[in-house]
Amino acid sequence: MRLFEARNAHFDRLVNTSHLRWLGQNTNHSKAHPAVVEAMIRCARDEEFHIYAPPAGLEALRAGIIDDLGLQGQSVLVSDGAIESLYHVCHTLLRPGDEFITTDPTWNWPMAFAKAVGATVKQIPIYGPEYQYRLDPVRLAEAMGPKTKVVYLVDPNNPLGTVCTKAEIAAIADAVGKAGAYLIHDCTYRHFAHEHHLAAKLDPERTITIYSFSKWLGLAGLRIGAVVAHPDVIERLAASPPNNLGSSILSQRAAIAGLSIKEEWFPGVLAELRSNQALVKAAVDKIPGLSMPVYPSNGNFVVIECDAIGIRVDALAAVYGERDIMIRQGAYHTPTFGDRFIKVSLSVPKEWAEEFASLLPSMMEKARARNEPATVF
Ligand SMILES: Cc1ncc(COP(=O)(O)O)c(C=O)c1O
Repeated sequence: MRLFEARNAHFDRLVNTSHLRWLGQNTNHSKAHPAVVEAMIRCARDEEFHIYAPPAGLEALRAGIIDDLGLQGQSVLVSDGAIESLYHVCHTLLRPGDEFITTDPTWNWPMAFAKAVGATVKQIPIYGPEYQYRLDPVRLAEAMGPKTKVVYLVDPNNPLGTVCTKAEIAAIADAVGKAGAYLIHDCTYRHFAHEHHLAAKLDPERTITIYSFSKWLGLAGLRIGAVVAHPDVIERLAASPPNNLGSSILSQRAAIAGLSIKEEWFPGVLAELRSNQALVKAAVDKIPGLSMPVYPSNGNFVVIECDAIGIRVDALAAVYGERDIMIRQGAYHTPTFGDRFIKVSLSVPKEWAEEFASLLPSMMEKARARNEPATVF
């Protein structure tokens, strides 16, 4: 079977396992606010789906995204999820021979998009205490050269959960601006951060901000996100978008409703996530040799290091998988550091986090007994 068929069959099985505990994809399983569900029901009941939505998105949604970010003066192109925005930006800005720089680990798909247009990809390692699991702007400036066209910064970082300080963002924006490159600031996890600073506030012309409704609002399956940038950049992007017929109107209605209840609803999501993080940290601390290098995490996930006790992380993901609990092995993010950690997503019901934590000692023993490499995606 071809790899993509095997991968698809794997995810199809997961999606069709109704009781699966999703602790692997940074999705948000908090109970939706009734206003969000009602907006979708209304859209379906009124059969609004017969029409195409406006090409750049419903104006109420575009304005809502600008307000949420506080990026007045910037423009918005609504998309079928942040991933589509990233694909679009990479294909628009990069040409063969250009250089694309990101961290290691990072979120991998944009590297594939850059390579597909003939750009070269450079990764700056940030994993490990020697780097404090973060990007030092000086190292970025040193890595950039005349061919650097795009710097892709996932902030908060997925999978690490570190976030750039105000001074770091200022130095990164400065280095990118001086090199005449663009900064793609992927802010998919911004809402979960203890503090977050938008590069677009410092360099609105060369920063491209990526926005997602999958994580904070929990709409991953609805495929709705956006790219936010200077109107000139958005005009360029709007000239040949992957989908000029408007993103799902049902998803856009849900997103507009989500923004309207955010202040009332989201603090509860954040509180549950942070209490789940604390619960898992306590379980990790009880096992000698396991550690959580970034705590508290600024994302809706945590990284757990297992290499000190010689547990294979693919085996650990596989044994949890056999209990219908999906977690992520580090290799999903990075071949270089991937054998050192697992990632566990925690914007989930408390019972799921408790189950993960209480099973940890026995799953470690089971994983230790596995010698064969497991096929995990
Ligand atoms: C850093 C990052 N960017 C973008 C995405 C994709 O977001 P969306 O669901 O809005 O396409 C993800 C999904 O995990 C992600 O981790």
